[in-house]
Amino acid sequence: MGARKKVTIVGAGNVGGTTAMRLAQRGYADLVLYDVVEGLPQGKALDLLEAGPVEGYDCGISGTNSYGDSAESDVVVFTSGAPRRPGMSRDDLLSVNRKIVEENVPEIVRHSPKAILLMVNNPLDPMAQLALVRSGLPKQRVVGQAGILDTARFRTFLAQELKVSVRDVQAYVLGGHGDDMVPVLSYTTVGGVPVQRLIGPDRLAQIVERTRKGGQEIVDLLKTGSAFYAPSAGVAEMVDAILLDRKRILPCSAYLTGEYGINDLFVGVPVVLGAAGVERVVEIALTVEEQAALHRTAAEVRRNVEKLNL
Ligand code: LAC
Repeated sequence: MGARKKVTIVGAGNVGGTTAMRLAQRGYADLVLYDVVEGLPQGKALDLLEAGPVEGYDCGISGTNSYGDSAESDVVVFTSGAPRRPGMSRDDLLSVNRKIVEENVPEIVRHSPKAILLMVNNPLDPMAQLALVRSGLPKQRVVGQAGILDTARFRTFLAQELKVSVRDVQAYVLGGHGDDMVPVLSYTTVGGVPVQRLIGPDRLAQIVERTRKGGQEIVDLLKTGSAFYAPSAGVAEMVDAILLDRKRILPCSAYLTGEYGINDLFVGVPVVLGAAGVERVVEIALTVEEQAALHRTAAEVRRNVEKLNL
């Protein structure tokens, strides 16, 4: 094994492919793109490799239909699964995507027992929980991407509203990756100013609602799939934090054992993400309403987890 880190991306669809592209452009890891469909991961990997001379990256990129090639990965990003179609909720994907997780996760861990598993498929929080149970990995090494995406959508809409750069909008969207996710207004600031001083309550409620339905808005526009540019940007930020041991504080789906008063459940919360994975859950003080909203979304996640009979 070379000195460069190794990242395997499971699923060579739109999220997998764009994640591979973003990571290739960083150049810090060799990449393996896995898919069951013959030719698809090989073709996308070769195409990405051939962009290297122009873009200036020189990491290894290969495509495969065999988990043997993923051996000794440091991070495995799991994107496989059916995406939503118009009219479907993320929860409608539970039975289809559970099979994919159950078939693949044990294979991944057999070949990469030290990997951190980064889950991306939907319904996000229950799939992360399923992956934790089926992988047998410690809770620190299974984490889900959703909060960065949901927060990015919220920041986008706030920046548009106030006609300022997205870089100057700080926010948290916590809770399950569903329609009842929790944009935490008490920690949302624009240029350091609390958002509630800048946008009136009615307009802010509309922006919150658009954020909650952000995934649906893209599905309705695309008609043949769901979002992938923003989701893969969230994944890449998490891989950066892990491989570069950045100890970033990022909203991620993490397994809670009492934090926020929630037990034995994956829910989106701020965590410190570094080389060990979820190194710590950060407990921020929430208002009474926000805490209640977080518990409502956790109850919704739990309803889906119970359907998995883990
Ligand atoms: C979204 C889907 C992919 O939020 O969950 O775009």
